[in-house]
Amino acid sequence: MPPQDGADEPSARAPLLPPPAPRRAAARLHPLPLIVAAAFVASFRFVFLAPAPSYYQSLFLSLGSNDTAATHLRALTQRPHVAGTRANSLTAAYVHDALSSHSFPTRLTPYSVLLSYPAHRSLSLTASGRDTVHFALEQEIYPGDPYAAVSAEAVPTFLAYAASGSVTAEVVYANYGRAEDFAYLAARGVNITGKVAVARYGKVFRGDIVRNARDAGAAAAVIYNDAKDYAAGNAFPDGPWMPPTGVQVGSTFKGVGDPTTPMWASSEGCQRLSIAEAMASDDMPGIPALPVSGMDGEAILQLIGGDVAPEDWQGGAGAPAYRLGPGPAVLNLTYIGNETMATIQNVISVIEGKEEPERYVILGNHRDAWTFGGVDPNSGTAALLELAQRLSELQKKGWRPRRTIILCNWDAEEYALIGSTEWVEENRAMLTSRTVAYLNVDSAVFGRGFYASATPQLDELLKEASKQVQNPDNRTESLYDLWMASNTSPLIGRLGGGGSDHSAFVQHIGIPSVDMSIGSDYPVYHSLYDDFIWMEKFGDPLFQRHVAAASMWGLVALRLSDEEILPFNYSYYATELENGVMGINERVLGMPVSLSPLHKSIKEFRRAVLKVDSELKALRTWKIWAQWRSCPLKVRDINDRLMMTERAFTEREGLSGRPWYKHLIYGPSLHNDYGAEIYPGIDDAIQTAKRTSTLESWQAVQNEIHRVARVINQAALVLTGGLT
Ligand SMILES: *[C@@H]1O[C@H](CO)[C@@H](O)[C@H](O)[C@H]1NC(C)=O
Ligand SMILES: *[C@@H]1O[C@H](CO)[C@@H](O)[C@H](O)[C@H]1NC(C)=O
Ligand SMILES: *[C@@H]1O[C@H](CO)[C@@H](O)[C@H](O)[C@H]1NC(C)=O
Ligand SMILES: *[C@@H]1O[C@H](CO)[C@@H](O)[C@H](O)[C@H]1NC(C)=O
Ligand SMILES: *[C@@H]1O[C@H](CO)[C@@H](O)[C@H](O)[C@H]1NC(C)=O
Repeated sequence: MPPQDGADEPSARAPLLPPPAPRRAAARLHPLPLIVAAAFVASFRFVFLAPAPSYYQSLFLSLGSNDTAATHLRALTQRPHVAGTRANSLTAAYVHDALSSHSFPTRLTPYSVLLSYPAHRSLSLTASGRDTVHFALEQEIYPGDPYAAVSAEAVPTFLAYAASGSVTAEVVYANYGRAEDFAYLAARGVNITGKVAVARYGKVFRGDIVRNARDAGAAAAVIYNDAKDYAAGNAFPDGPWMPPTGVQVGSTFKGVGDPTTPMWASSEGCQRLSIAEAMASDDMPGIPALPVSGMDGEAILQLIGGDVAPEDWQGGAGAPAYRLGPGPAVLNLTYIGNETMATIQNVISVIEGKEEPERYVILGNHRDAWTFGGVDPNSGTAALLELAQRLSELQKKGWRPRRTIILCNWDAEEYALIGSTEWVEENRAMLTSRTVAYLNVDSAVFGRGFYASATPQLDELLKEASKQVQNPDNRTESLYDLWMASNTSPLIGRLGGGGSDHSAFVQHIGIPSVDMSIGSDYPVYHSLYDDFIWMEKFGDPLFQRHVAAASMWGLVALRLSDEEILPFNYSYYATELENGVMGINERVLGMPVSLSPLHKSIKEFRRAVLKVDSELKALRTWKIWAQWRSCPLKVRDINDRLMMTERAFTEREGLSGRPWYKHLIYGPSLHNDYGAEIYPGIDDAIQTAKRTSTLESWQAVQNEIHRVARVINQAALVLTGGLT
């Protein structure tokens, strides 16, 4: 690991005082040395008087305010504010005003993009000898709900970008809607062609559920929240669990960014696909689909006959036996979507760096919500604004970051990570040459525990920073203690999945990135009940978890923005690359595939890591000797190599068949957009080869192995700064 610079880090938990003044021992010497010494002191006086980065880091940590976070969350969640609506442009204005009030230059960046709203929905269930059931498709308001009046403004329950159409057909039960679930149905001889697939939420991205259903031949899909996964205790408002009528809304588009500008930014007047062309994309679900409540899902399952489904397809205690179908229950599903161009707005706020204004540390969170956004995402927005408040306090005490800090509040994340993606695409060349790191927080607080994902050169920084932040639920412990006690495996997740706004930064342009949260999951996700009351009662009653999230986020940002040498450690990356190869090795045993190009390139990368480590050591030793004196160009050179190494993992052509995904180490797997596979290209090729078992398909695996080895070799060269 790159240890913290001894010279300017007297102690990680530094007292709230500037570092000691320089010793004046030289004053007793003879005139000539005295003059030299005086000149030396004078020339570095400014440096000596400016507090070290650790001073401001400690000050930042001391300034947390749970009341500030709560006030922002309450204000942001007054009304439902889905992307493209007036309610959401009011939240943009709120964030804009909050950030400009600290005199950080702040602007709105609007984009016109293709969004999707429901125009008409109906769902009815018939079975012989029974009355037809017409589902209400509404989430009930509980007595005394303070948001009862504005609940009507919430977008009706739907699946964004589902195809318009009407289907009347028998029902088939498809468990979690994974590729293997549909394969199981086929193996059991359940013919799903032309049927309505009913699947439950919980294992894969909903867009993949609908596509898997379509690919298996289904004419329509219905997705519900099974009580086993979402209602294991008292329902909201008495407990945190999903009420029986609660529905998880969401997008089913598997692409990233505005569907009308698939590889480029939605800038004003730009080239675009027509809406019909965009809707015909293979990344669109292509069939009508609706989400339903646990109550409605169970009503449908009760009328499905056929063979009893296997054990791991069943519901919780007390649920009826689930059967596979098809039929005899028949669903009549009608969905008419309104795919329409709408305006979204990112809010971008810039705190300009003093020494290296042209290096960026970017913090991002989205603002648009399917309903109120109590957890998702405005707990993150509240943390962002609370963090900004603290930075403005630092600024009043004389702080200016060394590098530029950019605070971003994205729009239309829920639809397809649209706001962040369009901005990254529009600013790609600038961002790739200047961005040190991107720090994402989507929902900041779900409940207990600490969760983090990162590109591996940031692992060590995350661990160190978490040791300085208090566990919000136990003041005698650090966030690090809480994290270690959680037993999550792996401890630090990776960013191959498409779940949030880090996607464009990591997977499209190769920026070192982090994604973090306090807690990781909650049952009322994307439902009408994700509001301030849920957060206040169950997510974070004292709003101390919001403070901890903001502390961690801001501390990591301050270390990246203010420390002279970037706190990156690529040895973790080398280990990750090696572990990934071990996983692949097991899967290709006995196959006509050689992993030696990968082994060789990783060995090269490891050598580069050792070389840069010893350079860093030498630089630090020399720096201590020279008493704060450093060689700015030497430092810039090494920092640039640390920053650009991640870029080298990206490749112009991108993943095979998915050219937007340029990163060959981290990207989503083909069948689950949430899945964070390492080496996604190799992984996809192996899956295909195992299915088809042809020599060509194994040659395709070998080809992917060579491609990955080449980018790792490039990364090694960038890290050492050498030419062949
Ligand atoms: C579609 O949405 C747009 C924008 O909200 C609205 O103006 C239009 O009337 C809607 N069309 C239909 C058919 O609902
Ligand atoms: C499934 O049903 C469809 C439509 O009824 C039919 O065309 C197809 O041949 C069936 N598939 C199998 C494997 O039986
Ligand atoms: C399905 O429902 C729609 C809307 O209620 C209705 O218009 C249509 O006739 C129904 N189709 C069938 C085949 O029952
Ligand atoms: C807080 O943490 C300390 C140290 O790990 C532990 O001894 C104590 O039991 C914890 N307190 C609570 C309330 O969990
Ligand atoms: C903030 O925390 C204090 C205790 O530290 C608590 O009394 C107060 O109610 C909290 N504020 C909010 C809004 O929860």
